[in-house]
Amino acid sequence: MAACGTVSWWEQREDSGRAPWVIAVGVAQLKGTVVEPVIVVEGLTKRYGGTAVVDGVSFEVGRGEIFGILGRNGAGKTTTVECLEGLRRADGGRMRVLGLDPATQAAELRRRIGSQLQESALPQRIKVWEALRWFASFVPGARDPDQLMTQWGLQDKRNTHFSDLSGGQRQRLFIALALVNDPELVFLDEMTTGLDPAARHTAWDLVRAVRDAGTSVVLVTHFMEEAERLCDRVAVLERGTIVALGTPGALIAEHARQITVRFSAEAGDLGWLAAVAGVDQVARRNGSVEVQGTGPVLAEVAAALVGHGIRPADLRADQPNLEEVFLSITGRRSDE
Ligand SMILES: Nc1ncnc2c1ncn2[C@@H]1O[C@H](COP(=O)(O)OP(=O)(O)OP(=O)(O)O)[C@@H](O)[C@H]1O
Ligand SMILES: [Mg+2]
Repeated sequence: MAACGTVSWWEQREDSGRAPWVIAVGVAQLKGTVVEPVIVVEGLTKRYGGTAVVDGVSFEVGRGEIFGILGRNGAGKTTTVECLEGLRRADGGRMRVLGLDPATQAAELRRRIGSQLQESALPQRIKVWEALRWFASFVPGARDPDQLMTQWGLQDKRNTHFSDLSGGQRQRLFIALALVNDPELVFLDEMTTGLDPAARHTAWDLVRAVRDAGTSVVLVTHFMEEAERLCDRVAVLERGTIVALGTPGALIAEHARQITVRFSAEAGDLGWLAAVAGVDQVARRNGSVEVQGTGPVLAEVAAALVGHGIRPADLRADQPNLEEVFLSITGRRSDE
């Protein structure tokens, strides 16, 4: 029975105890389909000066999903998201967001979505609590500004003017403002840029809580650890087209199979390591040995070392991660 298998898949994840529709999204992901999409995009195209900066992008986001959009600077992430939010007009393609057309139904759409924009500003003299109260005054059933200030660590800045907030505090205020209308779907464009590590971890927990309470999330990020920890699926954009789409686990399995095994060793011939099963390359770097390989290479190297009477105390393996996937798909150059 497929559903049983899928529930146990969710149970293996660290944060189980999800709502049934979240489990449904898990089922859909395993089957490669999206249940009850909140976003359907087909062939989205946006041109500036004759150049397509978004060039035929198609994807779906399911209700209850955290969907990541990754890509190098200028890849077209913000343009894509702002077309979906009804803030930019697409030149081609078909979009439905919560069943609405962002081009013609933007006003209704904006009541139901939340947007944390990459570039935002508020009046310099507005205080934190005033901004939240102001945004809340436009929507019936808005969230309690005090609760949002507490959740996003802004209570002790409630009377501070916008102009006097630090970069990370402004960022947290913009996230809180994106959630003030209790949206069905929230777009977060570089949500954690400028946040300190503790605030970033808190933001991840809060976004999971937002999703678990029923809000679908589209997250644009440059932080691969964030995407790996938070996103159910990610799309990688490159020059306006999607070059990879799937769960972080599936993308890692497909694109980043290399494992690096490291240990300290005295100088001496370790050339025989190259013949060990699963080993592709052996190199010495700053007093340590680095072995690149695939499959059970850690176990094979460990056994071979023991066989040669070597027992390094610091033998460890770096598992492939989304950062390696990203670099292998989009290249390591920085030419833009
Ligand atoms: N209003 C505009 N006029 C002309 N070109 C634009 C405009 N807005 C965006 N572009 C171009 O479209 C491309 C995609 O921009 P976009 O902001 O979507 O990138 P991004 O993937 O969000 O990048 P980043 O990671 O730097 O935020 C860039 O080359 C940018 O210069
Ligand atoms: Mg951007």
